[in-house]
Amino acid sequence: MCAIVGYTGYKPAIPILLDGLRSVEYKGYDSVGIYLPLSGPYKNVGKVEGLVDILPDNLVSTAGIAHIRWATHGVPSLENTHPLTDTNKNVWIVHNGMIENHDELRQELQEKGHIFTSETDSEILAHLIADEYEKCLKPHNAVAKALEKVVGTYGLAVMFSNLPDTIVIASMGNKMSIGIKDGEYIIASETAPMLRHTSNVVQLRDGEYAIVTPQGYTIYSFDHEKLSRKPKTIDIAKETALRKDVPHNMMKDILELPRVLENSARGRVIMQEGTARFGGLDEHMKELSELKRLIIVGCGSSYYAGLIGKLMLEDYVKIPVEVVYGSEFINRKVMEAQDGTIVLGLSQSGETPDIIDSLAIAKKAGIRTYGLVNVVGSTISKMVDTGMYNHAGPEQGVRSTKGYISQIEVLALMTLELARIRGLSKARGAEFIAEIKQLPDKVRTILKERRKIKKLAEEYLGYDDFLLIGRKYNIASAHEGALKLKKVSYVHAESFPAGEVKNGPIAMLNEIFPTIAIMPSDSVYDAMRKDVELIRERGGPILAITTEGNMDAYSFADDVIFIPDTRECFSPILANIPLQLFAYYSGALRGFSQDAPLRPSNVVTFDQDTDE
Ligand code: BG6
Repeated sequence: MCAIVGYTGYKPAIPILLDGLRSVEYKGYDSVGIYLPLSGPYKNVGKVEGLVDILPDNLVSTAGIAHIRWATHGVPSLENTHPLTDTNKNVWIVHNGMIENHDELRQELQEKGHIFTSETDSEILAHLIADEYEKCLKPHNAVAKALEKVVGTYGLAVMFSNLPDTIVIASMGNKMSIGIKDGEYIIASETAPMLRHTSNVVQLRDGEYAIVTPQGYTIYSFDHEKLSRKPKTIDIAKETALRKDVPHNMMKDILELPRVLENSARGRVIMQEGTARFGGLDEHMKELSELKRLIIVGCGSSYYAGLIGKLMLEDYVKIPVEVVYGSEFINRKVMEAQDGTIVLGLSQSGETPDIIDSLAIAKKAGIRTYGLVNVVGSTISKMVDTGMYNHAGPEQGVRSTKGYISQIEVLALMTLELARIRGLSKARGAEFIAEIKQLPDKVRTILKERRKIKKLAEEYLGYDDFLLIGRKYNIASAHEGALKLKKVSYVHAESFPAGEVKNGPIAMLNEIFPTIAIMPSDSVYDAMRKDVELIRERGGPILAITTEGNMDAYSFADDVIFIPDTRECFSPILANIPLQLFAYYSGALRGFSQDAPLRPSNVVTFDQDTDE
């Protein structure tokens, strides 16, 4: 979600850095900053062009680091925009990733007299490095020593105010590379900023750091061993083609889903305790342990994620949960405050008016309000008593893809935390986590097969009506799949709980009305099978989404999409991936650009404001 660019050499750094930033703008961001030694930082909450406007004309620098940020810890503001520095402004850093133990480290550093000026987890790095630099005066050693204390992920670039042409970089879970030209080094977290300058690139591996000056670069392992690594030649034509291969933001968002699942869970699972932990819930544990009734309020995809959350909470925490559309919550009689009731607002954007109104009504009635939102600093994040962030990154394609998947995962982790305080065993909690941790790779497996889903979308291109069905956890998948199909490909799609089809909807089915049945091999599979048998009699094609290895599906389905096996409550995460892809390809094949809805239906959100 963030990107880093750096330069050290003999040419003016500013145009190279700005060009590099422009080449990664497609990632989505809310703020941008640059550090030039001897002249300091320049930052803008907004676009790169806004930064250009505030850069003085007379700046001369042959080195610098720059960053685009999408807020995850701390709202988009000048204070939180990278480059960030330490108390004495000796060290400047730009960081991608997440520091999991930032709270503990901050406390230790504050006790030593460090003064923090941002709400970010990243600022910790500047202070830690400054602390070490005072002791050892070797920039790369200071970075390595500081990183020994850090738990988390980073792509990191560091400059020191007294070493104007030195950049130290490090990598752990986030890429960092050095592009090499004669006497010039372009540093970046992606290849795009380098492509215009060089095809010679050295990539750091996890657990490595490097010092880069115009005289050259040296790479070290975290055991301080010097490593020799020859640059690789990037195929610039192929790299450019690869980017063109992903023409729409919606597809880019879908391809980021494995990473989204990793980021949303990062720092929130404690395997040895078999539980999850959210900073925003820590101080509310008493209230949560006494929770008697939860009301989830959501609109669109967020409502459907809420339906899955309800089932998880009822299955594992055993509390009654109601899920209400934001547009209907506001029509209900004003509720009296009741002890043990919480209203949880779900909203990717954090700006959906019906959710804002619902939460306002709940607050007025004296009911406690929580939020699960993706956009840091959004209206909902500010109005609730407490809450959690999705940490899904910017939703560029407007439709909720990353938002929906991460909402389900965060609700699962919240379920786990509540279940553990209500008696779920540590061992069962650990099993739950182990399965969550496998989800990103399982999503990767599905994404690798996306061409098959494209072929299916082609096969089904002639149909104008679709029915989507599921039972239990996958009723929400059917609703969400139908919503996406409507929004993205503009075809008519109905969704029903599979057991309800016989009570009316079956009348509309015929041989030109295909059914997509979401039916992993789980506790409701046999019932689903009967529902599908009934639908089959109407003659329309059946496309089944089921668990890998379930050959039985071929006995009743015309086409089958397999998803990896997982715990029943996580199957909507996996089932949703082919549904998103099917909707995407169905739209693309019908000639619709997923980035320019025919009839925009989202409220104007933060994401759209930043979407170019
Ligand atoms: C609608 C969008 O306007 O808002 C849906 O079309 C979205 O895609 C819904 O799911 C809710 O949005 P949010 O931001 O509150 O999750």
